[in-house]
Amino acid sequence: MAGLFQAPKGVPDYFPPRSISFLKVQETIGKTASLAGYGYVELPIFEDVNLFVRGIGESTDVVSKEMYVFEDRGERQLALRPEGTAGVVRLVIENGLDKGQLPVKLWYKGPFFRAERPQHGRYRQLQQVGIEAIGSPDPALDVEVICVADDSFKKLGLKKFRLLLTSLGCSTCRPIYREKLTKFLSGLNLDDDTKNRAKLNPLRVLDDKREEVKKQLTNAPLMINELCKECSSYHQDVENLLKKNDVDFIPSPKLVRGLDYYTKTTFEFDHPDLGAQSGIGGGGRYDGLMSSLGGADLSGIGFGIGTDRTLMACEAENLEISKENLVQVFIVPIGRNSQQLSVSLLKNLRSAGIASDMAYGDKGLKGAMKAADKSGARFAVVLGDEEVSNAQVQIKDLSNSSQVQVSIGDMVKHLEQALRQN
Ligand code: HAM
Repeated sequence: MAGLFQAPKGVPDYFPPRSISFLKVQETIGKTASLAGYGYVELPIFEDVNLFVRGIGESTDVVSKEMYVFEDRGERQLALRPEGTAGVVRLVIENGLDKGQLPVKLWYKGPFFRAERPQHGRYRQLQQVGIEAIGSPDPALDVEVICVADDSFKKLGLKKFRLLLTSLGCSTCRPIYREKLTKFLSGLNLDDDTKNRAKLNPLRVLDDKREEVKKQLTNAPLMINELCKECSSYHQDVENLLKKNDVDFIPSPKLVRGLDYYTKTTFEFDHPDLGAQSGIGGGGRYDGLMSSLGGADLSGIGFGIGTDRTLMACEAENLEISKENLVQVFIVPIGRNSQQLSVSLLKNLRSAGIASDMAYGDKGLKGAMKAADKSGARFAVVLGDEEVSNAQVQIKDLSNSSQVQVSIGDMVKHLEQALRQN
């Protein structure tokens, strides 16, 4: 016997009923972004590999170890997108969107690809909903972006998530800080791997989870204490505005992101019930990214929310984020004539916006009623040949088994009313 196929390692399947909740998470974030004036963009799934190398940074794990790179038939080097920001910036530059009103505000959703070691909540095909606002270095915009994420989580009903916030400075203060940190790290007792990591990006050492390293970092200089005057007052404004808007945050000076483009405001949302992979979203400002990719010297800020992990967070908090069943009405035809009529009735129901389905195949009354129950529909519409000749249907309320007879012409109106009352 031929072997059974399995989804690639680290790639989750979503199917009903969980996929309905997955869509709900995606929709909730997308709607919150649209309400704040973000327009939808559909980004390519693959791009020139150098867009990511230059945009995200060669020294990051995402670029150096985790990209799915391939050559197409024209010998072009391409990569499956590991994240969305570089692609959005490329799209903005290529299509001249930054020539109009600023900021350019866009949102996107879909799968991203990182060849990480799979574990609970860490996938190789991960899903994100993201927003990017390009062209306005204004603390109010940083706060708007953070609020879109915060509002989305709250709308889903999440209570336990936390916002971790810091500033990573700018091209003036960060190099000075980096030197200071490098000097500090060179005096520590670190293994060769960590020393190499420090050479590539000393900030990343601050994120080391091992006790023996953490102990030595207690007195490490922190970026937040070394900000230049401009970055410092910018960060103050962001913090004050967040407080004014009742958005709680935890100052997190050791927060390190996995992508190199961040400047100034940098943040992560996490959820304590998710174990090791607790980050449900992250983002920040990237003031040099547009120019480093050949565009105008415009600043930007955005976030990526992990759809998979946000769904897991909702499940961890036992939230019923989607009570909807796939269908509200299920037609049970008995006999050939009623089967044919059911096709038109379904069309009418669906045109009226009522999610509906019918028993296909020759199931018999018992089997068809079982299918109606299993579908989760509230109402079954039962019609046999007698009903067809009288132009009548039986509508059965599956929650209490009560039944009424209505004329076929009144069926949609009757069901609309009955569903509205629920
Ligand atoms: P990121 O922190 O790399 O940022 O990813 C954002 C979110 O995607 C994470 O917080 C997490 O929820 C989810 N995520 C990342 N990797 C995985 C994985 N392997 N499995 C499951 N979920 C994952 C970015 O991608 C930036 N582009 C965000 C951004 C937008 N910054 C500015 N604008």
